[in-house]
Amino acid sequence: MTSNILPRHVAIIMDGNGRWAAERGFPRVAGHKAGVETVRAIVKASLDLGLPVLTLYAFSQENWKRPKEEVNVLMELLDFFIHKEIGRLKKEGVRLRTIGRIEALPEKTLAKVKEAVAATRENGRLILNIALNYGARTEILDAVGRLLEEAAADPGRFRPFGARLTEELFSEYLYTRGLPDPDLLIRTSGEMRLSNFLLWQLSYAEIYITKKYWPDFTKGDFKKAIREYQRRERRFGDVKA
Ligand code: IPE
Ligand code: IPE
Ligand code: MG
Repeated sequence: MTSNILPRHVAIIMDGNGRWAAERGFPRVAGHKAGVETVRAIVKASLDLGLPVLTLYAFSQENWKRPKEEVNVLMELLDFFIHKEIGRLKKEGVRLRTIGRIEALPEKTLAKVKEAVAATRENGRLILNIALNYGARTEILDAVGRLLEEAAADPGRFRPFGARLTEELFSEYLYTRGLPDPDLLIRTSGEMRLSNFLLWQLSYAEIYITKKYWPDFTKGDFKKAIREYQRRERRFGDVKA
């Protein structure tokens, strides 16, 4: 049973840059540099396919544990990507968004990110959502914190919802507010884990894992993942139609 319906949202755990570099005898950061080229290619492929939302896991909350030099290079690459791509993103109708506690990013990087988000605000062809200093458990705690604050400040606040906290209402408190949940999760480099990524939103996502390292992942691999998604039978707990 194959459909040709595109996922409304694809989320990608871009993994394997370090191993890609190590296999070539390069330092890990060379893998991150090569990975930026894959980001460019996959954004372009998403536009070509007409995908509405693409989320990329670029830096996790836990990634601060890495050596300082590696973290610095990752931040510089983000600056570099925005600097080089902003014109094209604007022109192609890409709207940049972020999820994660971006306030903790280095000042210069944060300024660049905010500028790019503001500059692409009016775009609507593709939402490019970048997870930066992102942690799914923190996202859920941030949502609960805001809900509690609002409820304390205005006890009537949740009355219109019948005083019941629904999944839809809770979703509006997450960083991904307004976005559909990912239909497809791709992880490169073969690891079989979520690494604290979108725990709430991935509840019913189809998962596709490829052994390829992120720098080796191509537009063709991306299309292959989407075709595989289109062959899957999604049941959502129901029985076969
Ligand atoms: C993914 O590649 C990039 C980030 C996590 C920022 P890794 O750097 O995790 O590469 P491996 O997993 O060590 O090969
Ligand atoms: C997940 O990859 C985070 C990103 C891709 C940004 P990691 O390489 O950090 O995940 P673990 O440590 O293998 O779980
Ligand atoms: Mg990794």
